[in-house]
Amino acid sequence: MMEELWYKNTVIYSLDLETFMDGNNDGTGDFEGLCNRLDYLHALGLDTIWLAPFQPTPNRDNGYDISDFYGVDPRHGSSGDFVDFIHKARKLGIKVIIDLVVNHTSDEHRWFKEARSSKDNHKRNWYVWSDKRPSDWNQGMVFPGVQKATWTLDKKTKSYYFHRFYEFQPDLNTDNPEVREEINRIMGYWLELGIAGFRVDAVPFILESPAMGKKPLPLHFDYLKEMRRFLQWRRGDAVLLGEANVLPAESKKYFGSEGDGIHMMFNFYVNQYTFYALATADTKPLIKALKATKDIAPGSQWAFFLRNHDELDLGRLTEEERQKVFERFGPDKNMQLYNRGIRRRLSPMLGNRQQTELAYSLMFSFPGTPVIRYGDEIGMGDNLALVEREAVRTPMQWSGEKNGGFSRGNNLINPVVEDGYYAYEHVNVDRQRRDQTSLLNWMTALIRIRKECPEIGCGAWEIIDTGLDQILGMRYTWKARSLLIWHNFGEKSTELVVPEKQAGTRRLIDLMNNIESVLDEKGRHTITLEAYGYRWFRAEAE
Ligand code: GLC
Repeated sequence: MMEELWYKNTVIYSLDLETFMDGNNDGTGDFEGLCNRLDYLHALGLDTIWLAPFQPTPNRDNGYDISDFYGVDPRHGSSGDFVDFIHKARKLGIKVIIDLVVNHTSDEHRWFKEARSSKDNHKRNWYVWSDKRPSDWNQGMVFPGVQKATWTLDKKTKSYYFHRFYEFQPDLNTDNPEVREEINRIMGYWLELGIAGFRVDAVPFILESPAMGKKPLPLHFDYLKEMRRFLQWRRGDAVLLGEANVLPAESKKYFGSEGDGIHMMFNFYVNQYTFYALATADTKPLIKALKATKDIAPGSQWAFFLRNHDELDLGRLTEEERQKVFERFGPDKNMQLYNRGIRRRLSPMLGNRQQTELAYSLMFSFPGTPVIRYGDEIGMGDNLALVEREAVRTPMQWSGEKNGGFSRGNNLINPVVEDGYYAYEHVNVDRQRRDQTSLLNWMTALIRIRKECPEIGCGAWEIIDTGLDQILGMRYTWKARSLLIWHNFGEKSTELVVPEKQAGTRRLIDLMNNIESVLDEKGRHTITLEAYGYRWFRAEAE
């Protein structure tokens, strides 16, 4: 049954059209450019693309401020280009997930313009208003330090509108049945055009009604069920992948019981403890986080990631834990953001190839679906001179040519990284493609291995007790197959002694190196882990 669910063993690649590939050389990436790079993505071995918002937008929040849900921003091409892209992706067996950003619209959306025009306008109740300024008007900002309020005065009608995010992103009122109907129409529209599902933006905020200075109200999980039902009526195998940075106990409510909640959620909790483990070589809190997010309904699935298009949010760690991660990965104030996160890319943060491999091998071995951020497969760097989260949104580095081969234009949407170790002349696809030892080729091999290990996406897992805090051991079983994987977070190489009983087999076959381990005369396996080393073994069935 489990193998029926395509999202259990897919590999997702997240990209933003804007910075991926520019086909018409106007300096902004587009569908034409992306279509020309589909072969690259296919050869990398991934089979799902998560496309960041590409609809018409004033683009004040990287496209997460949509002004028309039913179109393509002209900077990226036309609706015709979108359909071309879907067709070409499908031919290569690549599924496409798009963002569903319905917590809010842009303030330039026609609906908001109508809503703010007068108190009795029909669209008024599509948004959230208050005549008086609520006492919590400057609480609950998602972007503290940059965003000043969550309620802002609209001069024309002299009332306040609610915005969980920036003030140019008024929240839609999802309690209003008309708004829900419209959201269904949006989902239906894109499903009809051939997409495989949605990355649902800001899920907890879609489900909230603002408290207006009172005790917070419970979230409307019933609405999530309603969304799921509608989605599945329209397309049986489409999925919802939720962005909700919530505590483990809370996440169960999003998944619901079998088949009635969200299909997938990003595991922000394990993500933060992964970075804690990478920073301190202490895996105990990571193991706790993995266990805390373990029991979810069989059809539900975690999506694991290292970095995304936002800051690395460390808000779920304790103050002390967070400071340790800051110290190691984002020591300068300029690397930190919103008092809780780090605005850097993975490779510069980790600073060396061994730990980058360790982090990726680990993430691919977590019990769920791996999500790669564009550019991380070649170890791209960031640009801290750019504001806020833009630091990690520089153009993809394809080659050593002008603008890293991203565009032949002159007015780039964001400058390409051109200084230092991560400059496009050194770090680019062309170069790494031809270098057998490159990160790109290593990553391609990792993707292949992950695809050959359905145990990880479909099976059951348990921690293998290694007795060493710096080493994480995990075993996965599914049907008659099983897999044993160890990761060493320490900077020293270590020999692990694994008794037959713990290994569950006499013969362990290394999936990455051409070797195998057989029991010694004392009935034990000895596994060598290099500094920051990782080993993947298939247990030979007895
Ligand atoms: C999500 C997105 C983020 C965006 C916000 C508002 O958190 O990941 O990039 O700014 O929603 O839509």
